[in-house]
Amino acid sequence: MDLGLTGRVAIVTGGSRGIGKAIALQLASEGVDVAICARQRSALDEAAKDLEKQTGRRILPIVADTTNSESVAHLVDATLKALGRIDVLVNNASTPGGMVRGPLAEADEKTLLEDIDTKVVGYMRCAKAVAPHMQKSRWGRIINIGGLSGRRSGNISGLRNAAIVHLTKTLADELGTHGITVNLVHPGQTRTERTDAETERRAASNAIRRIVDAQEIGHVVTFLASTKAANVTGVAIDASGGSIPVMFQ
Ligand SMILES: NC(=O)c1ccc[n+]([C@@H]2O[C@H](COP(=O)([O-])OP(=O)(O)OC[C@H]3O[C@@H](n4cnc5c(N)ncnc54)[C@H](OP(=O)(O)O)[C@@H]3O)[C@@H](O)[C@H]2O)c1
Repeated sequence: MDLGLTGRVAIVTGGSRGIGKAIALQLASEGVDVAICARQRSALDEAAKDLEKQTGRRILPIVADTTNSESVAHLVDATLKALGRIDVLVNNASTPGGMVRGPLAEADEKTLLEDIDTKVVGYMRCAKAVAPHMQKSRWGRIINIGGLSGRRSGNISGLRNAAIVHLTKTLADELGTHGITVNLVHPGQTRTERTDAETERRAASNAIRRIVDAQEIGHVVTFLASTKAANVTGVAIDASGGSIPVMFQ
């Protein structure tokens, strides 16, 4: 199946490591030039070199903080200047699991607001900055990376992932008329370069009885970014290998 992605341009936030880097690799493997952003320069530059070597595509490392509107504007401007267009945005940058995980008595409101600023408002900031460019070309794909803590209780920071379900559907309904789809992918516990053996073991209690690799999240995202997914918008996809035992999610 030709995904129709050759020659397109994507921004992947949080692309210096983990799931973001794996998504950038899959997109670039399908012929996409990719701008990756993160706050720390050294890991970002290293990731760009590695991805360029593996795929032969242009990988542009841009230091940017998605909690800052000026920084996001710089990310978009620098991408347009160097790569000429923006077809795909993957909102991925955040602290996995969030930072407020303990009981209510220990929950720190400033920390929770930081979590929300990065994952909910940060995703909105980036979508707002790229949407006018996608609208102009009457084509675009926005893919938000969530997390299944938004579908189960037990972690206050999980509310971020519920909020971006709402954001996803709202943006999908507004932008659909411009040829832009907006979807959400929920990873479960996913293998990245930082995953330890105990996490691998616990993650294997899902339906497929093994941890999902970050590259597999990249496959789902790359399909949603493709021309073949034009009829899929406003949905949230569980890509965890079946880690939640309920039917209507
Ligand atoms: N790994 C999992 O098992 C799992 C499970 C469910 C959901 N997720 C979700 O998947 C996404 C990626 O997780 P991951 O495990 O790959 O995380 P990770 O390895 O910690 O990578 C996070 C990336 O985001 C960047 N980042 C963080 N805050 C940023 C900000 N304000 N501005 C710009 N870049 C920022 C980091 O670089 P700098 O620190 O240099 O900025 C890094 O590139 C997150 O949204 C996470 O919630 C992950």
